[in-house]
Amino acid sequence: MHTKACIFDLDGVLVDTAKYHFLAWKRLADELGVNFTETDNERLKGVSRMASLEIILELGNRHLPVIEREKLASVKNRWYVEYISKMTPEEILPGVLDFINELKANKIKIALGSASKNTPLILERVGMKKLFEAVADGNVVHNAKPDPEVFLKAAEMVGTEPSECVVFEDAVAGVEAALRAGMICVGIGDQNVLSDSHLVVKGLDEMNIEKILVLEKRLGYE
Ligand code: BG6
Ligand code: MG
Repeated sequence: MHTKACIFDLDGVLVDTAKYHFLAWKRLADELGVNFTETDNERLKGVSRMASLEIILELGNRHLPVIEREKLASVKNRWYVEYISKMTPEEILPGVLDFINELKANKIKIALGSASKNTPLILERVGMKKLFEAVADGNVVHNAKPDPEVFLKAAEMVGTEPSECVVFEDAVAGVEAALRAGMICVGIGDQNVLSDSHLVVKGLDEMNIEKILVLEKRLGYE
């Protein structure tokens, strides 16, 4: 098998935290008097905390100094942390644990590549911490997706060449980051949105080793 490591995005791939991000951003937008819908929330997926706030301010045509923006981002994060602090292992998305266990049984290294600074808390709450050999998250990475830094860092941490890594991503910015890192990318979600990925599935419950082997063959890796 050509693939040596699999790198998973967190939010939207392993757990559905997008709903908590939405609730917290919505509360902030309401306080600011900015109209913010679930459709607008799609634009925030995979995007860093500050960049997300900037999208919301732009929707309301609001301009605020950096110091104010930093305060608002930390208020939003406080509310978000209240939600994720109550998460349980039941919130791990379908198929995630079976797929990761199948990969491990085949000696594939497992790493995490996420923009979130709250990654350690989420992994702890859902009981997934021990599954990962490496965690590259918002606390160790400086350049947000679509920059490839987060995935290159994860590959380095598990000692694997980028070309031997497969990334699982639900956000357009994340797919771009994986491709820029020179990795195989499996999109998790809608084919029309993630069409740049090498393969798109609706969720990890549709993934198995066999599909990776077929993909490797199609891409000319043996
Ligand atoms: C990404 C999410 O994984 O992490 C984004 O898709 C979020 O919506 C980003 O803004 C940063 O997360 P956090 O937890 O550091 O605010
Ligand atoms: Mg995501």
